[in-house]
Amino acid sequence: MKIIVTGGAGFIGSNFVYYELAKHPEDEIICLDALTYAGNLETLADAEKNPQFTFVKGDIANRQAVYRLFERVKPDGVVNFAAESHVDRSIENPEIFLQTNVIGTSVLLDACRKYGIQRYHQVSTDEVYGDLPLDRPDLFFTEDTPLHTSSPYSVSKASADLLVQAYHRTYKLPVTISRCSNNYGPYHFPEKLIPLMIINALSDKKLPVYGDGKNVRDWLYVEDHCAAIDLIIRKGREGEVYNIGGHNERANIDVVKTILHELGKPESLIEHATDRKGHDRRYAIDPTKIHNELGWLPQTKFEDGIKKTVKWYLEHQDWWKHIISGAYQEYYHDMYSKKNVLEYAK
Ligand code: NAD
Ligand code: DAU
Repeated sequence: MKIIVTGGAGFIGSNFVYYELAKHPEDEIICLDALTYAGNLETLADAEKNPQFTFVKGDIANRQAVYRLFERVKPDGVVNFAAESHVDRSIENPEIFLQTNVIGTSVLLDACRKYGIQRYHQVSTDEVYGDLPLDRPDLFFTEDTPLHTSSPYSVSKASADLLVQAYHRTYKLPVTISRCSNNYGPYHFPEKLIPLMIINALSDKKLPVYGDGKNVRDWLYVEDHCAAIDLIIRKGREGEVYNIGGHNERANIDVVKTILHELGKPESLIEHATDRKGHDRRYAIDPTKIHNELGWLPQTKFEDGIKKTVKWYLEHQDWWKHIISGAYQEYYHDMYSKKNVLEYAK
């Protein structure tokens, strides 16, 4: 297969590129990425040594550029990871989320219609279902849970999902959608909870926990997400949505304490910060469908995955130090001074 992977210079997309090159060495992977603040060519340095891999810099919302690429490559499949992905940034500036996540998706879908495709896969998120209450641990998101979004980010992702489903129903485009819970692992951009806490703790900086720290996320090791998408694009049924999650629910405060414990740092580094606006309380995925239909099960327990992740950040300090040395400092200062966090990473 010849697969265009959009957003392959970001966190999950790059892990997927490496997963595919290893699992299907006969396949060709073409990464289309605009290299926004979240995209990083250093992440793809090893992939670029592989003749089966090509990197193309470009914006998924640029119709002419996308059509030119499809005409040249004639892909069999598209896996769309490209997105603005950070909820806090969407609260500050929603528009770019609509531009990339909605308009960008519509351009890719049009290209698939125009040039023909065996499979278009949309990488979506559990956030499209909204949140669950903390006092109902019996409730989980299934594929039939109504969409009920909270942030500009989740609105943009839900809108894109609806568009993908419309192209299936209206134009019979062979699509699939996956909605995954929170990922963690190598190459996770430092603005997100787990890498931010590891990096701040390593620098003895305060760890900004929003609100009471009791919000719950359902953590999945990124390689398990990649394995699920690989199965869906090859064996998933056209037009279907598959939820992906590993029943690894943790309160934020517990995740942060686990990281401090792994690094041998004191809990006094924790600082309670002003809560995120509209903060979703709990996410929890029911992955029964993907298990029953495709035999997928997560392979990495949270206890092991978090150890591997902490080790990765310890061993790849150049990777994240390059990132946090530039515009990230300004982002961190702006975002966290608004949240009344006084000590921030230098
Ligand atoms: P990320 O922010 O780390 O990476 C996004 C990538 O997309 C970057 O390489 C960036 O340069 C690229 N990009 C952004 N705008 C683009 C554009 N207009 N054209 C081309 N490329 C562009 O994101 P991530 O955490 O790896 O998330 C990847 C996908 O998975 C997203 O669609 C996200 O909604 C979804 N998702 C993420 C998680 C998670 O926990 N991180 C969980 C479920 C679903
Ligand atoms: O559920 C899937 C989603 O997971 C993806 O769709 C998003 O792209 C991805 O960013 C992630 O969204 P979250 O908002 O859950 O992830 P984030 O790492 O930003 O925050 C995780 C939790 O930690 C959330 O409850 C907010 C909290 N938090 C986050 C940061 C950055 C803090 O308490 N302090 C922080 O500094």
